[in-house]
Amino acid sequence: MAFFVDLVVLFILSGVAKALYELWLRPLRVRRMMAQQGIRGPPPHFFYGNNREVAWMKKEAREKPMNNLSHAIFPTVMPHITAWTAMYGKNYLNWHGVEAQLVISDPELIKEVLLNKEKVFHKAPATGFMKKILGDGLVTSEGDKWVSMRKLANHAFHNECLKNMVPDMASSARMMLERWKDYEGREIEVFKDLTILTSEAISRTAFGSSYMEGRIIFEMLTKLSMLAAKNAFRVQIPLIGIIWKTADQAEADRLEEGIRHAVMQVIMKREEKVKAGDIDGLGNDFLGMLVEALHDTDKSKRITIDNIVDECKTFYIAGQETTNTTLAWTMFLLAVHPDWQEKARKEVFDIFGNEDPNADGIPRLRTVRNQFHYSFDAQI
Ligand code: HEM
Ligand SMILES: *[C@@H]1O[C@H](CO)[C@@H](O)[C@H](O)[C@H]1NC(C)=O
Ligand SMILES: *[C@@H]1O[C@H](CO)[C@@H](O)[C@H](O)[C@H]1NC(C)=O
Repeated sequence: MAFFVDLVVLFILSGVAKALYELWLRPLRVRRMMAQQGIRGPPPHFFYGNNREVAWMKKEAREKPMNNLSHAIFPTVMPHITAWTAMYGKNYLNWHGVEAQLVISDPELIKEVLLNKEKVFHKAPATGFMKKILGDGLVTSEGDKWVSMRKLANHAFHNECLKNMVPDMASSARMMLERWKDYEGREIEVFKDLTILTSEAISRTAFGSSYMEGRIIFEMLTKLSMLAAKNAFRVQIPLIGIIWKTADQAEADRLEEGIRHAVMQVIMKREEKVKAGDIDGLGNDFLGMLVEALHDTDKSKRITIDNIVDECKTFYIAGQETTNTTLAWTMFLLAVHPDWQEKARKEVFDIFGNEDPNADGIPRLRTVRNQFHYSFDAQI
């Protein structure tokens, strides 16, 4: 019995020691090491690091109206980086809870990281809510796993595949424009509608014929990413998460399971079609390609259901916020610069007349393409 009590006491003591090290000693040591190399940064709070200041600065910046319509959006989007690079230099140390983050804005260093010639810079592993969203898909995976999944994904972006999607995309856009007709002379929440448009485009690319099921999956994923955003600056206490879950974490677990279940349903439906004799039953979309790889006779090329679920989720997440914001920002810029809007309109009419845009004409839209690049650069 005494032995058992000793063991428990020892266990608790070592837990306390480890917690103290993680929460207090390690941050102190890392900060000292970095300071010796000339890297400083905002002092972290015990346990929370700099998270609370970041959240607070972002909130404050977003509540201020942007009276000056300019490309200088960085202080509004990333106010903490603006403030801290001004105080501590181009590269500084930030604390996400007890995790140290080196923020770099020196172009030479950024280039070094992005080129990653020596393969020393790894992707940060997704944890918590982000892990549920991205899984081990293309955005998070590395090495051989990334190479093989990337090969599959490349097919989906092949020119021929993209060309086949143009009519569907055009009809989605047409539907949106029809809705807008009712708003003549009134305000429209363009950003929201563009989100519907882009999610339809992705649903069609990824799920093709199963596009309605795709939308349901997307809705669950949207809820999951809202939970992730809500909890982005919340610090996870190690181990506690295993024993006790917050309501948001429990909801996220349910959504993750729901998504997995829904993807599996789509896959099974397609497999049944094949069994019933339909040779093209798997579908010639991204999902179809993935399901084919699920049954690859070459074991080294075979992928798992989890791979498929993760890749479907990754496509939605990676393809959605990027495109809805680019379109909304471009539209905003065109509204602010009506002369450019006129030029774009003229070009579109010159090439397509009153027809829907088609795959052959799109590469000839030079002005429109340049405008996108311009809008795009401003965002980055
Ligand atoms: C304006 C639109 C877009 C922008 C600005 C954008 C930006 C980016 C960036 C910067 C990365 C690299 C991230 C990193 O390596 O850490 C990336 C990766 C990725 N994006 Fe996009 N993206 C856009 C549209 C899309 C769309 C429409 C899809 C899919 C439907 C997509 C799917 C992906 C995937 C799967 C990756 C990971 C690629 C890999 O690591 O192999 N993106 N994107
Ligand atoms: C807005 O623009 C005006 C004139 O260009 C400038 O004087 C002012 O400082 C700007 N305000 C902000 C908040 O950037
Ligand atoms: C744009 O897409 C992101 C990612 O799906 C979403 O969270 C956001 O709400 C969308 N924006 C609008 C205005 O709908």
